[in-house]
Amino acid sequence: MAMVAVAILAAGRGTRMKSKLPKVLHNLGGRSLVERVLHSCQALNPQKNLVIVGYEADRVKQALSNYEGIEFVQQTEQLGTGHAVIQLLPHLEGFTGDLLVLNGDVPLLRPETFGQLLNIHKQRQNAATLLTAHLPQPEGYGRVFCGGDNIVTQIVEDRDCSAAQKQNHRINGGVYCFNWPQLAEVLPKLSADNDQQEYYLTEVVDFLKPVMAVDVADYLEITGINDRKQLATAADILQMRVKDAWMAAGVTMIDPDSITIDDTVKIQSDVVIEPQSHLRGNTVIGSGSRIGPGSLIENSQLGENVTVLYSVVSESEVEAGVRIGPYAHLRGHVKVGEACRIGNFVELKNTQVGEKTNIAHLSYIGDASLGEQVNVGAGTITANYDGVAKHQTKIGSRSKTGANSVLVAPVTLGEDVTVAAGSVITKDVPNDALAIARSRQIVKEGWRLKSDVQ
Ligand code: UD1
Ligand code: MG
Repeated sequence: MAMVAVAILAAGRGTRMKSKLPKVLHNLGGRSLVERVLHSCQALNPQKNLVIVGYEADRVKQALSNYEGIEFVQQTEQLGTGHAVIQLLPHLEGFTGDLLVLNGDVPLLRPETFGQLLNIHKQRQNAATLLTAHLPQPEGYGRVFCGGDNIVTQIVEDRDCSAAQKQNHRINGGVYCFNWPQLAEVLPKLSADNDQQEYYLTEVVDFLKPVMAVDVADYLEITGINDRKQLATAADILQMRVKDAWMAAGVTMIDPDSITIDDTVKIQSDVVIEPQSHLRGNTVIGSGSRIGPGSLIENSQLGENVTVLYSVVSESEVEAGVRIGPYAHLRGHVKVGEACRIGNFVELKNTQVGEKTNIAHLSYIGDASLGEQVNVGAGTITANYDGVAKHQTKIGSRSKTGANSVLVAPVTLGEDVTVAAGSVITKDVPNDALAIARSRQIVKEGWRLKSDVQ
């Protein structure tokens, strides 16, 4: 497809969000709104990606710093969507193709929709073609008025509509395809003669011919985000799409309404996700795994047949067959080898665990590396912090720590070591040794408190 440039309007503050964060940076299912809008149109292979920034411009630029080939356009004062597009003039000098203009707050568009819009735009040789929809609840959106053959005669913003005009439920989706040279010529004619005293992009339909409206097949796609309620509605729509796709791909969900999954997550077939579980960020779940009930998995990779019950796993890698929980917390780059058990009330931080090792009850293990088939006794704690710095604990394969041991780091236990229950280990222990570090029990037979003696 020849010569399409994209411009995304992302300069507004988003007053109705009541937020310090610019509206287009609010998170929707793992990505910001503006990132989603940018993603949605990349299949068109645009010749230019222009992003108009203004309010908190540096933050918006920073959020898009991973994307190559974006040209940022500064809109110093936010005087309306028309004013935003006027800022493009010096950036598109000599450009003779079509310009796709997208509001930065319309994040649910499907890539196919742009293809359809552009096709009609070209076939009909329109000056402008815009996406519309008939909404059951059109409040807040600009209303699109058409003559025959979907030719647009006028767009009136909700706040500028008369009571009669509000009866029209056909709304402007904020997605437009323009013949750029024709648009460039009429942009200087925009006025700010409306309730908000802003330059409205929608006013260009008064000057361009022909302008055509194209109804989107699924009106949910053009849900715009102006406030937190619409953000929540969009999140629901996105969740429905994401979960439907995973169920179609062979994932079982029990009570799907109570589950949330970012669309950055990957799930293999025959995974079961139980109620109240949440999968976020760059997470991968291996086949046969069972997540939940009540678990949060964030930026973590789980192998096959892992079970996670009422637990939190973040920034971690877990190999096949590991059982986690109930009530475990893995965080800060934990790696767990195959077939381990990380059990009740166990916290692991920045720790590597070899195969078939068990840490089953009431432990904190931080900044440690454990070999294979280690058994960490109930209540074993690494004292990894001396008040100034963090230190490492090492435990060799097949070693066992007794219940309620404290391993004061830095410390190394060799292989096949046994630590007696209740020990406070402050010195390294060589292979094949028993370490006991507690006071001996004294038993005084036939002893009573003096006051008890009659
Ligand atoms: C706009 C449309 C409305 C449409 C709706 C669809 C206009 C005048 N109205 O209204 O017809 O139904 O979108 O969602 O265009 N922005 C800038 N610079 C500015 C002002 C806004 O970059 O000076 C950006 C915002 O960051 C936002 C987008 O433009 O991403 C749309 O602005 P917004 O204020 O949300 O317009 P709506 O009132 O939703
Ligand atoms: Mg909006």
